Amino acid sequence: MSLENMAIPQHVAVILDGNGRWAKKRGIPRAMGHKAGCETLEKMVRVASDTGIRYFTVYGFSTENWKRSQEEVGALMQLFRYYMVRLLKIASANNVRVKMIGEKSRFDPDIVKGIDDLETGTKDNTGMTFVIAINYGGRDEIVRAARRVILDYQKSGEDPSSLDEAAFASYLDTAGIPDPDLMIRTSGELRLSNYLLWQLAYSEFYITDCLWPDFNQEELEKAIIAYNSRERRFGGRIKA
Ligand code: IPE
Ligand code: IPE
Ligand code: MG
Repeated sequence: MSLENMAIPQHVAVILDGNGRWAKKRGIPRAMGHKAGCETLEKMVRVASDTGIRYFTVYGFSTENWKRSQEEVGALMQLFRYYMVRLLKIASANNVRVKMIGEKSRFDPDIVKGIDDLETGTKDNTGMTFVIAINYGGRDEIVRAARRVILDYQKSGEDPSSLDEAAFASYLDTAGIPDPDLMIRTSGELRLSNYLLWQLAYSEFYITDCLWPDFNQEELEKAIIAYNSRERRFGGRIKA
């Protein structure tokens, strides 16, 4: 398979799903599935960057995921701690800038500090931007943005009719990041699960049965090839 003559989507957003099913298939604890998922993610950051993707956004933990068992949430937090340190090294070695979206104040202080270190330590990198959505929910993001818009308008006394889509988008966590061209969901579910509700308005969707820990370069290439065969609603046929 080759991506020769293929248009590479500028921004790819992924719902990395199926860690639990991957573990279940092997008769091992769910936490092992999440660990395998983190290993895949680490590899895919490099692959996405080498493929020429400029923005790679992944859904790591949703606002709804706190409802999982205490044991599973605890295991995920431990994985964040471990992989954040590794990610700083990988991002630095690959000129990748890391940005977190979501509401981070709910995390333990050491995780919040780890996130800050990752963002500040990579902010001058000029290669791919790797966006991680944690404690992220599309509705939560829109409500938080709306609150800030109201406060700003109250303070300035400006007429609310000046608020347009671009101005509103500048209050979202993704301010300054172009909307995803392609959204990939692994493990076959046909839903958005509260992911990037505003930003995915016109993105192409690609759903694969591949479980996230099994995802790799070849699977990404399949998604890009499918993307190239789509007639986009805006902007006409995708061109290389
Ligand atoms: C995705 O895998 C990872 C997170 C949501 C943190 P799941 O844990 O949702 O895996 P399944 O859906 O149970 O297979
Ligand atoms: C979406 O996957 C959230 C993340 C990938 C972090 P879930 O597995 O949590 O979504 P649902 O519960 O199946 O909708
Ligand atoms: Mg799931």
